Parts: sequence; structure tokens; C-alpha cells
Amino acid sequence: MATIEDNPPIDATPTTTAGPERTVMTRRSTLRWAGIGLGTVAAAGAGVGGTRAATNGAFTAGSGAPYDLWHDWATISGVDRVVAAGVLACNPHNTQAWRFAVTGDVIEVHSDPTRRMPRNDASGREHFAGLGCAVENMVIAAGSAGFTAEVVLFPDGTASDFVARIALRAGGSGPDRALADAIPRRHTNRGPYTGEPVDLRGLASQASRIDGAGVLWITDQAARDRLGALYVEATEAITADPDQSAEAFGWFRNDRGDIDVHRDGLTLDGQGLGGLTLFAAKLLPAQSRTDGDAFWVKATREVHTATAAAYGVITVGDVADRTAQVTGGRLLARMHLAATSLGLGFHHMNQITERIDRDHALGSPDVFSRRWAALLGRPATTGLVSFRIGHPERTPGLSPRRSLTDVVTR
Ligand SMILES: Cc1cc2nc3c(=O)[nH]c(=O)nc-3n(C[C@H](O)[C@H](O)[C@H](O)COP(=O)(O)O)c2cc1C
Repeated sequence: MATIEDNPPIDATPTTTAGPERTVMTRRSTLRWAGIGLGTVAAAGAGVGGTRAATNGAFTAGSGAPYDLWHDWATISGVDRVVAAGVLACNPHNTQAWRFAVTGDVIEVHSDPTRRMPRNDASGREHFAGLGCAVENMVIAAGSAGFTAEVVLFPDGTASDFVARIALRAGGSGPDRALADAIPRRHTNRGPYTGEPVDLRGLASQASRIDGAGVLWITDQAARDRLGALYVEATEAITADPDQSAEAFGWFRNDRGDIDVHRDGLTLDGQGLGGLTLFAAKLLPAQSRTDGDAFWVKATREVHTATAAAYGVITVGDVADRTAQVTGGRLLARMHLAATSLGLGFHHMNQITERIDRDHALGSPDVFSRRWAALLGRPATTGLVSFRIGHPERTPGLSPRRSLTDVVTR
């Protein structure tokens, strides 16, 4: 298909096109867009609202124990530096569905099946891709901690919850210094991007390659429009599916108290809101599931797809294959870190494949595969996970993390 560039990461010859027309939003219109009026902010800022602001973390975003690892990582050394990099990896819904067993210089990576999301990730592709992200963050960090990492996926010889063994050998320095430096600065950016085009060649060469996975770029305006419309339709389908919507809502931490207890899940800070809107959102009562869903559909239509400079799809031989899922996740982590090192915004967007897997699991008619395959120009069974990129207008918020003592056994 002429509008789509299919590139292995390092040999990429992408055509970057002019960015999408940008929706310029004033502060007032942003508040209106988010359903929050200035009067509401003023009223909520005093009295009871002020109390809620304090309890809801309006003044403490990104600080405190759930965020310590982001700030401390640069000063951590040795094996802990490597494991902590795994904990800081991107992962679906911030479920942090991992456990690490450390013996000397050997780190075992295990899946935590209790943290899977069977309705939003019916095939487990995101779960295992997220574990691949943790593996790759650790491999990259190993170089910066003076090790070389030897990785064996599914060491038992079968696809199980024992996902990887990483043996650290002294003496390496690693070629990935820029990616390692990006580990504590990498965040998912769900805010608006400017219309500026992205240098995909620079991004691809910074990310380098992972054998067994590739990146397919969608840059052409017409193709982006079609893909954008498909994302919106899939988002609407997720929110219209009560079980899928409820499961996702169960991982939303609207309150600072919840964040302190769970140290996982999605939060208001990660939604890409402007400062005033975010502040107001924290003052107001917690959003209902229905309101949250409506906000998500609107943001997908008016911000996420409207301001994407390009989309990337991680491709593998077969999305149902566990090794391919982990391997694709490893490349995904490298792409996100490379984007961070180049100052780009990076937003994982998987509504389409989540619906494909959901329809398949329910035995429902397959609504999305045919159009997903047509956009990819290859079988739907090769498009693992996807994301948008662009030059960001806003700095993304930090997401909480469980501590090393919560997830590591020695
Ligand atoms: C495999 C995978 C799938 C993801 N899918 C989505 C998605 O569909 N939508 C989204 O907004 N974020 C998605 N994310 C981003 C996670 O929600 C994010 O990594 C997590 O909340 C932690 O936040 P952080 O990336 O800022 O550290 C995904 C991440 C991974 C690794």
C-alpha cells in the first residue's frame, strides 16, 4: 500500500509528511473541552475543594514513595540498578505484572498472572509485550551498570510464566548509553502533539533493531485519518462493552490515597491534561466510569488521533506466539526510549487489537481485523501493538511504581 512505509527499524526509509492540522486550544476552551468551567475551578479551589486538592495529590504530583524510583534510579548501582530499570518499564495499564527473582548476578523474570486483564487483553499479547519491555529496559540498564546481559526467553523451553533469565556478566559498557539515560525520563505522553513532522529515520536508528520484530510506520495523512477513525471506533466499542469498561476502570486510581496503597494503575497525572485542567480535575469529585469513558472517547478523537504526527505498529511473525509477544515488547521499549531521548512524545494505543482479541474470545463477529490488515498492508495476525508519536506540547506526568521490595525475591 503506497501510503504506508514498512520499515525494519534500522534500514528505515520513511517518508515523513507534514503533520496533522493542529487543534489550538485556549485554556478556557480546554477546560470547556474537559467539561470543567472556570467557575467550577474557582469554587472548588476554596473550602472543601482545597481539602480534596490536598488529599487528592493536587500539590504532590510525582513526589512521594510511589514515585521514588524515577528520582532515585540514576544513583542506584549494581544489580539493583538493572532490576529497577525493569520496574520503570512501560507496561499495559500500569499493571506491573511482573516478579523478579534475583540470585547473585542472575535475574529471573516471571509473569504475575493475577495482574492480567482478560477482558482488555484477552490473548495476553500486551501482558507479555509488557514483560518484554521490562526485559529490554534491564538489558539496556545492564550496560550502564557495567554488565553485559545474556538473555534467554522462556528458559523452561515452553511458553509459561517464567518469561526470561537474564545473566549479568561483568565488564560490558553497552552501546545503549542514550537509551539508558532515557530510562528515568521515559513516560507515556497522552497530551496533544504539535504538527511538526518527526524524523523517523533518526528515531529508528536510535532504537536499533531486535531480531524477530519490526516497525511499520503510518505517516501519510489519508492513512492516518483512516487509522484514526478506526481507533475512535474501537474506543467506542470498548466503552460500550460493560465488562471491558469495568475492568479498565478497576485499574484507574483517581485518588492519592489509592495511589499510595496500590502504586500501580492509571492516574489523572498520566492523562496528558493541561496544568489548570489537571488541577481542577483533582479538586472535583472522582469521575464515574461513564464520565471517564466519555472523556477517553473524546480525547481519542480530538487530541490523540487529531495530533498524531505518525503511528508505529510493532510487527512480528505471529501475534499469538508468546516469544514473538515478548520480542515485540523488547522493540517497543527501545522505540519508546529512543523517542524519549530525542524529545518526542510517545503514546501506546491498542484499542483496535484489544477489540480484535475481545471479539475473538467472545466468538463475536470480527469487526476490526479486515480493516486493520488493510491499513497494515499485511495480515492482522502480524500487527502486535501500536503507538502514536509526535513533538509534544506538554510534559507528561509520572506514573506510580511498586517498590523493589514488593516485586523482588532474593
Ligand atoms: C504493551 C503495552 C500496551 C499499552 N497500551 C496502552 C494503550 O492502549 N493506551 C494507553 O494509553 N497506554 C497504553 N500503554 C501505556 C501504559 O499504560 C503505561 O506504560 C503505564 O501506564 C505506565 O506509565 P508510563 O509509561 O508513563 O511509565 C501500554 C503499554 C504497553 C507496554
